[in-house]
Amino acid sequence: MSIITVHDKQFQPYITAADIQQRIAQMASEINRDLQGKRPLFIAILNGSFMFAGDMFKHITIDAEISFIKLVSYKGTKSTGNVITSIGLDEDLYGRTVVILEDIVDTGKTLSMFLPQLEHQQPEQLLIASLLHKPDAQTHPVKIDYLGFSVPNKFLLGYGLDYDGLGRNLPEIYQLVD
Ligand code: HPA
Ligand code: MG
Repeated sequence: MSIITVHDKQFQPYITAADIQQRIAQMASEINRDLQGKRPLFIAILNGSFMFAGDMFKHITIDAEISFIKLVSYKGTKSTGNVITSIGLDEDLYGRTVVILEDIVDTGKTLSMFLPQLEHQQPEQLLIASLLHKPDAQTHPVKIDYLGFSVPNKFLLGYGLDYDGLGRNLPEIYQLVD
């Protein structure tokens, strides 16, 4: 692996594909152990989490379902501020064990605004699995139950993460060269 250029910026290798795969297998085995008999519903947040969700789900050996949603932010009223809504969530979450699959928790803003809407449906358990977390970027509290890698507050690319639409297809994760 070496430095790559995407649009106008340079990125250097940061997490190898092998390390990503190994960590995801470990996360999946924790989930298999913890959620045995719960028939969890995984909810993957598009677009970024599609690779993580696919690779994670291959390692899930307990009975489980998966659904893919997209979060959309739109301008609310003055009093509500920005509002987050989801597209594609058809399942009833009442009494279910739900595992949110995220590529990255950065500021935590979107998730912290969206999670109460899921809680409103009264799932038995609402868990978060995130491949990446930038603790130094976080401004809104989000409890991560299963974490892949804690990373510094630098722009990342690859394995689902894009820079202006490009780079999602890279099997490894790159970091912006500054
Ligand atoms: N890279 C790409 N997309 C992102 C990032 C990042 O570092 N953080 C939040 N979305
Ligand atoms: Mg993006």
